[in-house]
Amino acid sequence: MLNVLITGGAGFIGKRLALSLSGAGHGVAVFDNLQPQVHPDPEGTVQELRQAGVRFTVGNVLDGAALTEAITAADADMIVHLAAETGTGQSYELPTHYCDVNVTGTARLIEAIRAARNKGTEVRRVLLAGSRAVYGEGACRDAIGREITAVPRLSADLAAGDFAPKDTRGCRLDPVPSRASTTVPAPASIYASTKLMQEYLLRQGLEQSGVEAAILRLQNVYGVGQSLYNPYTGVLSIFAQQLLDGQTLNIYEDGEITRDFVYVTDVVAAFHRLCELADVPNETLDIGSGQGATIFNVACMMIAELGLDKDRLKISGQFRPGDIRFAVADISAAERVLGWTPKVSLSDGIGALVNWARETA
Ligand SMILES: NC(=O)c1ccc[n+]([C@@H]2O[C@H](COP(=O)([O-])OP(=O)(O)OC[C@H]3O[C@@H](n4cnc5c(N)ncnc54)[C@H](O)[C@@H]3O)[C@@H](O)[C@H]2O)c1
Repeated sequence: MLNVLITGGAGFIGKRLALSLSGAGHGVAVFDNLQPQVHPDPEGTVQELRQAGVRFTVGNVLDGAALTEAITAADADMIVHLAAETGTGQSYELPTHYCDVNVTGTARLIEAIRAARNKGTEVRRVLLAGSRAVYGEGACRDAIGREITAVPRLSADLAAGDFAPKDTRGCRLDPVPSRASTTVPAPASIYASTKLMQEYLLRQGLEQSGVEAAILRLQNVYGVGQSLYNPYTGVLSIFAQQLLDGQTLNIYEDGEITRDFVYVTDVVAAFHRLCELADVPNETLDIGSGQGATIFNVACMMIAELGLDKDRLKISGQFRPGDIRFAVADISAAERVLGWTPKVSLSDGIGALVNWARETA
């Protein structure tokens, strides 16, 4: 059995992972500062985890001494690093804070792992929740079929209603699924830059210490339990909340923005598997459903699930800086390496999310 410390383990993904690992008999500890934007009911979350036998420390990843203490108290073999600020739009408003928590917080974790080793606790592996945001506009094919990474879209093009990804010469490209082995990272937001920096820091900072780094780049994770109160993350829970509030959904661009929605239990299963794997994969793995869905279509699915009028959405043509056009994962490497495959269909997942949001709102 393993001893696993999860930073950010009170959050959407982290709480479910903590319960999954502890249900399988592993020793689990959580280190989380219970960020108010994410946690409307922090006591309830802590209680639920403690009742499942999870050790809980309220702490900030910027506090190296507290991190070291949590690692040694848990006698951690493994750390799953999920603590982060996660809002793409908010990262433009709070760039220093995003760099502090996501980048400096990861550096502090590396130092804490070294300090814990000096106190007799040997961490063997660190797993990171990376993000597909690091790809920016991601992999595309050009007119002669070559796979290249699109450049960030220009505000002038978007304002003119031209939403297509382009190459450096302004030629239109056809998006295809991205994969860590071949798609060159090109972060298009401050959040995305901090997520890429986390990857670099962990790979570079742990290598000399003999600690394994394992990175999963997650697509859009959704499902029961995603904060309905955080206005900055989780487009499907934001839609559910807005529809239940009686609002009309504002669908950006032409509605054809495409995302790969992966259900939270499928993501948890991938992390759980990666903890238990004897040999850590060298390669970064992409985790998603492997299927694209347009924002217009998922909005229609939610409206139908709630039994609302079809006119409860408006395609506005508005756009946001840092929003990317097409995000779909090639999950074949994860399926091969982890022996994992996503199980929850989009319609089942949306049904579960909508029912839960209706009961919770
Ligand atoms: N949800 C997604 O769609 C998605 C996609 C790609 C990557 N990720 C990554 O997965 C991880 C978990 O995301 P989530 O959706 O569960 O988010 P979440 O906001 O629900 O969870 C993050 C947790 O980190 C905690 N936290 C924030 N700042 C902290 C700090 N300074 N010190 C300690 N704890 C802190 C929060 O209290 C929260 O419990 C993040 O690293 C995120 O970047 C998520």
